[in-house]
Amino acid sequence: MLTTPRLTIRPFVPEDLEALHAIYGDPEVMRYVDGDYASLQATRAALVTHVEMHEKDGFAFWAVLREEELVGEVGFGRLGDEIEMGWTFARAHWGHGYATEAGHAALRRAPAAKLLAVIHPANEGSKRVAEKLGFERSENREVRGHRQLIYKRRGANVSAAGL
Ligand SMILES: CC(C)(COP(=O)(O)OP(=O)(O)OC[C@H]1O[C@@H](n2cnc3c(N)ncnc32)[C@H](O)[C@@H]1OP(=O)(O)O)[C@@H](O)C(=O)NCCC(=O)NCCS
Repeated sequence: MLTTPRLTIRPFVPEDLEALHAIYGDPEVMRYVDGDYASLQATRAALVTHVEMHEKDGFAFWAVLREEELVGEVGFGRLGDEIEMGWTFARAHWGHGYATEAGHAALRRAPAAKLLAVIHPANEGSKRVAEKLGFERSENREVRGHRQLIYKRRGANVSAAGL
């Protein structure tokens, strides 16, 4: 578990399903995110992946809580041989610096020194978060069937311990 002045970051648990679906099921939140998460089934499958990946690998997308309420997720996934970092927050909680605050904390548990972020060209908020976390704009790339901007970051502390 990680804590910041306002937030707690912990691995997902199956009981997060409803709260997570309130985030994934919001088309405005998922506007620039690949994949179709409209159904509860899809959120359940993603949640199983988060839980199992953390258990197996020690990293995954993690739950971000503000006073016990699930406000978003931050964490890491695999993109081929590379490690991707990502952030997604409930619409009601945008604009408070949570993605940046949680991102800085998660970077203390990054599973690789070199990270990338895959960002839709129109996702201005996410580009700004990436920059505030020390990512720099790199190339454009086709990822999961979409033309995306790649941001790269070097020099994260690598921790085998996970959360
Ligand atoms: C992107 C997202 C995670 C940002 O979360 P957040 O907690 O509001 O982020 P922060 O408050 O830490 O920082 C957001 C920054 O983007 C800026 N921003 C937000 N929307 C913007 C826009 N449309 N144009 C320009 N800047 C924008 C904010 O002003 C802020 O920058 P500042 O601190 O310099 O003012 C959130 O909007 C979200 O969950 N979006 C949907 C999911 C998503 O797209 N995830 C990323 C996939 S790559």
